[in-house]
Amino acid sequence: MAETKKKNGFASGIGFILAAAGSAVGLGNIWGFPYKTAKYGGAAFVLVYVLCVLFIGSIALVAEIYLGKRAQANTVTAYKKVKKGFGWVGLLVCVIPVFIACYYSVLGGWTFRYAMNSFQSVGSASNALTFGSFVSNPYEPVIYTVIFMALAALIIMGGIKGGIEKASKVLMPILFIIIVAIAIYSLTLGPGVEKGLEFYLVPKFENLTFDGVIAAMGQAFYSLSLGMGIMVAYGSYTGKEIKIGKSIAMISVFDTLIALLAGLAIFPAVGALAPELFDTPDALGGVGLVYKVLPMIFERMGDIGQFISFFFFAMIVIAAVTSVISLVETGVQFVIQKFKAPRKIATLAVCGLCCLVSIPVAWSVGGAFDGSIMVFGYDILTFMDDMTNVVLMPIGAFCSCFAIGWLIDDKVTANPFKTLDNLKNDGLDLHPLFGGIFAVMVKYVTPLLILFIEIVGVLTRVVPALGGTINFWFTIGFAVLLAVLSIIVYFVAFVNQDTGTNEDELAINVKEKAEIEVEA
Ligand code: PHE
Repeated sequence: MAETKKKNGFASGIGFILAAAGSAVGLGNIWGFPYKTAKYGGAAFVLVYVLCVLFIGSIALVAEIYLGKRAQANTVTAYKKVKKGFGWVGLLVCVIPVFIACYYSVLGGWTFRYAMNSFQSVGSASNALTFGSFVSNPYEPVIYTVIFMALAALIIMGGIKGGIEKASKVLMPILFIIIVAIAIYSLTLGPGVEKGLEFYLVPKFENLTFDGVIAAMGQAFYSLSLGMGIMVAYGSYTGKEIKIGKSIAMISVFDTLIALLAGLAIFPAVGALAPELFDTPDALGGVGLVYKVLPMIFERMGDIGQFISFFFFAMIVIAAVTSVISLVETGVQFVIQKFKAPRKIATLAVCGLCCLVSIPVAWSVGGAFDGSIMVFGYDILTFMDDMTNVVLMPIGAFCSCFAIGWLIDDKVTANPFKTLDNLKNDGLDLHPLFGGIFAVMVKYVTPLLILFIEIVGVLTRVVPALGGTINFWFTIGFAVLLAVLSIIVYFVAFVNQDTGTNEDELAINVKEKAEIEVEA
């Protein structure tokens, strides 16, 4: 039995940890964390961020990984195994990542293009890839998006052990080496470096506003890939050999370390080569940072800038591709197991769908066709990002804590010490100290904090006095529609049907292999 399980999942604990870290480390670490840190008070923000990871992120991370591990199945079956009427959550959290994959792959495509362009643009203005003309071209970004998605598809087709685990084991150490090397280089650029460090990390508690605290919470969730079924899916491919407590510690530390290093790679170089940018700090985050500011800085580095540019963008491609495979895998796993489809077909179906949707996303966010492709007043990327991250992700994360804290632990109790016993009986084995904290947190504190994030996130976008707009109601409406659809589809089509498990997937694999052998 143990043998069977192994074949269908991660071969080793470290393989799982690297794959989960691969999902966690992404664009959020590189263009989200450093910028927010600088904006909201440097080390003061880092402190709050770490607290958020410790007390909210890691709790939800345990909940999600364990939900998958105990079910040994896709997200729908996993939630169904907690409580039959709760399976729709599994469907919702399996659909959310597909939306994210549609825009994430566009950004991945841009990055790929920039990596390829490294040796042409630097030092020669005529060859320079100008951001505006590249992204607003109707063809190029689409082509690169498809290439990027194809890369992800190839990895996913290899399966958990032969594809995702193998790729993560090779790519994550490479990513780490590149980012450490660039950070060291950046820190040794000479005069101006301290100015960058000061801008990034010197604690400024006066800048740590309420918005900053909310930003830290949201960043922790997004960065750990929570609330979207991903960690449930990856967790399901683990077995007894994995210690959840140790795994989540390593995933969280790695994710935070890369985020911190990203800032150390960026800001000292800005300080040394483009200190004027500190006067317009808003340019130092997001799309502007990666595709406009960084190329300019690489150019100012002289010849070596070409190499730094190549490695930096290649590093972001790695970060993005290991995130996209996790986004797509969640859907692929469900399609395989529910429809008894071979992995290759399921991958092609989900990736194909993402590619189709990503075309208008690329046009919309790049401003092709005179920027006319918009929904509800937003470009499609912003719309999808808000819908998933602001509205739906907290709901997914809340449900995972609720499932563990209240539904699995349904025997008694308002008594958290009993919760720990109940969870232990269920199979969740945590270190007693962490377990005690976990039980209280997962039941009471974390769900409340998540609700808080949801409410504040939504309020600041709809209440005019807080800077909100009327348009955001459409985004909320769309998210609600998606949730309602998940509920309807689940109760009509899935609730009394077999929604499949990892064991079914194994059977399909075996059958596929046998057919291939017969053909040969
Ligand atoms: N965690 C990734 C990042 O930091 C983004 C992501 C979110 C990936 C959700 C998968 C799922 O960029």
